Amino acid sequence: MKRKGVVVGITGGIAAYKAAELVRLLVKDRLIVRVAMTRSATRFVTPLTFEALSGNRVVYDMFDQDGTVMDHIRWGQESDLIIIAPATADFIGKMAHGIGDDFLSTCVIAATARILVCPSMNDRMFMNPAVQENLRVLRSRGIAVLEPGQGGLACGAEGPGRLPEPAEILEQARVLLSEKDLFGHKILISAGPTVEPIDPVRYITNRSSGKMGYALARAAVRRGAKVVLVSGPTGLKAPTGVVFCPAKTADEMYRLVFENREGCDIVIKAAAVSDYRPLECAGRKVKKEAESLSLELIRNPDILARLGETKAAFPCILVGFAAETEDLLANAQKKLKAKHLDMIVANDVSRTDAGFETDTNLVKFIYRDGRVEEAPLMTKDEVADLVLNRVRDLSEAGFGHAKGT
Ligand code: PMT
Repeated sequence: MKRKGVVVGITGGIAAYKAAELVRLLVKDRLIVRVAMTRSATRFVTPLTFEALSGNRVVYDMFDQDGTVMDHIRWGQESDLIIIAPATADFIGKMAHGIGDDFLSTCVIAATARILVCPSMNDRMFMNPAVQENLRVLRSRGIAVLEPGQGGLACGAEGPGRLPEPAEILEQARVLLSEKDLFGHKILISAGPTVEPIDPVRYITNRSSGKMGYALARAAVRRGAKVVLVSGPTGLKAPTGVVFCPAKTADEMYRLVFENREGCDIVIKAAAVSDYRPLECAGRKVKKEAESLSLELIRNPDILARLGETKAAFPCILVGFAAETEDLLANAQKKLKAKHLDMIVANDVSRTDAGFETDTNLVKFIYRDGRVEEAPLMTKDEVADLVLNRVRDLSEAGFGHAKGT
């Protein structure tokens, strides 16, 4: 696949140092990154830093002898996206008023690429009516503006104006660069573990970090779907653009899944739901008195099995995950049949590079007609895109519609 090109435009604000991490992440995401800086930006971080990180020449002088005369036109027309991060009040004003008085501002005027502006400045400057009006003008012209974060600013003030974290800017860039092939779909995704309380301070849970389910949710949003994410407790930030439904226990997850299932034409269950919960939750902390203790457990509802049983009333493509430590294929096939699924994604969770907590996964897709497809070891982001490709193919083949289910 052709690699996409991004121009990172850096203007003169203290948050310019964060642009170094942004460039690193964009390069890691296999994008071709070129950096243009304003003169003031070079007072904060040297062009050499960005040259080393991007592997490309950095431009900050309109009359740079190293490039070609038309670079300020070519860059914005050959790339797919321009990210201005940080964007100062001054640069936002120039963009709103069509002023091109250096390489970067001229590049933006001539650009055919999509543009993402990431404002970063003192809170009073950000709230100034002139700055707000300029941002409104940019939005009305189809330029994407990423809201700055709230909190402590470099000047000591508290308020809006912080440059969002590089990972958040990267995610927004991915959204703008992605084909919207899932537009029109509404996808319910479950992620993370459930916790089943024993007493007010103890619980039973499992090793799910939520990474797999959250990667699915982010990829689906990027590709234009509406996404409801029902998540057990994880240390992850809810992805931008999802309807986020936090759950703790399997019972809560069950309720939230069924409350949100209507209108969803795709359901993907990556959550690791506790199969059992303590029969009783003690009202007070259980004291260390007896030499041994027994815990009586009872079965939790099987959310996916219930979705499968009631599928006729709510036609959808139903996808489960199978977490196995032995007989991966045979066990996953049994779950596919028993739970009336269209596809199951099987992962061997005894591996150190797949399943729980890792950033990578090794999966097999098993379909209703018995087909099995093996994927190579990939990052969870890549697995998520592959799962969604296969789900899209099933939808195009008529699965999930009343007649196909
Ligand atoms: O969160 P990570 O750290 O990134 O790890 C990812 C993962 C290993 C959790 C994920 O890839 C995965 O395998 N998820 C399914 C885990 C699991 O519970 O598998 P299972 O084989 O026990 O269950 C089969 C299917 O039934 C799953 O889709 C599960 O969500 C569903 N289920 C299970 C029990 C239950 N009571 N209700 C359910 O809906």
